[in-house]
Formats: sequence, structure tokens, C-alpha cells
Amino acid sequence: MQLLDGKLLSENIKAELAAEVDLIKQKGGKIPHLAAVLVGENPASEVYVASKIRSCEQVGFKSTLIRRTADVTEAELLEIVEGLNNDPDVDGFIVQLPLPKHIDEEKITLAIDFRKDVDGFHPVNFGRMAQGMAAFLPATPYGIIEMLRRYNIETAGKHCVVVGRSNIVGTPISILLSRKGYPGDCTVTLTHSRTKNLPAEVRRADIIVAAIGVPHFIKGDWVKEGAVVIDVGMNRIDDPTKKSGSRLVGDVDFEAVAPKCSHITPVPGGVGLMTVTALMMNTLKSCRKEIYS
Ligand code: GUN
Repeated sequence: MQLLDGKLLSENIKAELAAEVDLIKQKGGKIPHLAAVLVGENPASEVYVASKIRSCEQVGFKSTLIRRTADVTEAELLEIVEGLNNDPDVDGFIVQLPLPKHIDEEKITLAIDFRKDVDGFHPVNFGRMAQGMAAFLPATPYGIIEMLRRYNIETAGKHCVVVGRSNIVGTPISILLSRKGYPGDCTVTLTHSRTKNLPAEVRRADIIVAAIGVPHFIKGDWVKEGAVVIDVGMNRIDDPTKKSGSRLVGDVDFEAVAPKCSHITPVPGGVGLMTVTALMMNTLKSCRKEIYS
């Protein structure tokens, strides 16, 4: 069994990005600039956004953090989005989700200029991705694809079972892995809460992508010998042995599944770090106008 080391890979990619930024600086070009909007005090969102800002610093990007309290109005947030859309120095920005209940997330996502949508959440980017056109890929699927590529994992003709059909992970990764080319050319089964006999579906998989948000959901006897397992889960569970009283676990029962796999991503240290790195890759692409001129 080989660990798919998201920490090592993301460090390598970030070193490549930093070298690119150095070249840009030498040539007097524009430094990539990512902005993040964070509303309220959701502890997970705080951690994610802090990690995005820290990654910007590591690779030499400019970053801007815009914070508002949870009582911000939808109109105010739309104004912030409009400001970022029109700021020529900002190459890309994200509005961290989830947003407070009184704000319509769909309305906010649609208000973001798709040319600056480095999260790849806007339907224009989603539609372009689905048609195999150049697009900002959503960060987690992009991170997974990059991981498969950099570990030279074979995908052509493989049966991939995706567990979970969210707009930001399950659905887009199922599209990307079924697309022509590498990594892709998989036969994909997209499973969800209404799937009948889920363990039997998962047992057929050469590649499993677990993105259901339930701790230790995928059991040892659901996994075929030699499967590649990508664990997207980030679940905080109680653990009185830890100083914090909790720890992060994936959607896969790692102890039981790891011995059966050819490759598996750990949690933490797997897909999560790749997600942040993919956002940095999208920001550089935006700055260079590689997707949209
Ligand atoms: N909330 C959880 N993951 C993400 C993400 O990738 N982007 C944004 N904007 N919000 C999130």
C-alpha cells in the first residue's frame, strides 16, 4: 500500500508556483492576487481561509481577506462581490461557504464574475468543464486529478465509484474522471444516499472517491483488493485523548481499508492540502489569463 501524500505533493507544487512568481517578478509582471471573503465565525471556515491566505504568502501571491460579521446583509455581500469583480488588481476571489442562512448562496455564486471564479463554482465554469472546454476546475476535484497525475495512477478503462453527489466534489469529479484523456477515461458510477446496495457498488471499484461527509463510512469489506482510495472527508470527531478534545477523520475507515489498497490518501495530509494548492494553481492561471483572455 502506498500513501498518496498530499502534504509532499502540495509542497512540491507550491515550490513550483513560488518559482513562477519569482520569474514574474524578475520580468516586472503582475503578481497574482487572490481575495477571500469570510462571513461569520464558522470554525472550519476560519481554518480553511487561514490556510488559503497562508498558502498565498508561501508562494508569493498577494492576498486580501475581507471579513464581515454573520449579520451582514445579502445586499452588502453582493456589493463586496461587485467590488471584487471590478477591481483590476484582483485576479480571483472566493466567498467561503457556508454562508449564514439569511443569505442566498446561489445568488452570491451567480454574482461572481466567472472570469475570477477560481473556486470553479459558477455554472459557466461548471458547464465548460462538463464540455471539456478550458475552465476553472473546482478546487477539490482539480486537486484529486493533479494527485492522480503526479502519482501516475492508471485511470483509462478503470471503474471509478464516487460516493456523494455534491456540486463541489462528487458531481464534478465524476465528470472529470469520465472525460477523454488522462487522468480520465474511467467508467464512472456516481452513488448517493438513495443508491441500492452501496457496499456492492463500492466493491466493484478500481478507484473509490469518498465524498459523503460521514466519518469512517467506507468499511474494510467494501473495498476490492488493490483499489485506489481517495478520501475527501474532513470530519471532526470527539477524541478525549487529544488536547483539543477532537480529531479530524475521513469518510474512509482508514485502519481497515489501507491494508487492502494499492494507494490511499490519509486524512489529514491528503486531499485537503491539495484543494488549497489547486486554488493557488487556478489563481496563477487567472493572472496569466490562461482560461479567459
Ligand atoms: N467551503 C468548503 N469548501 C469550500 C471551497 O472549496 N470554497 C469555498 N468558497 N467554500 C468552501
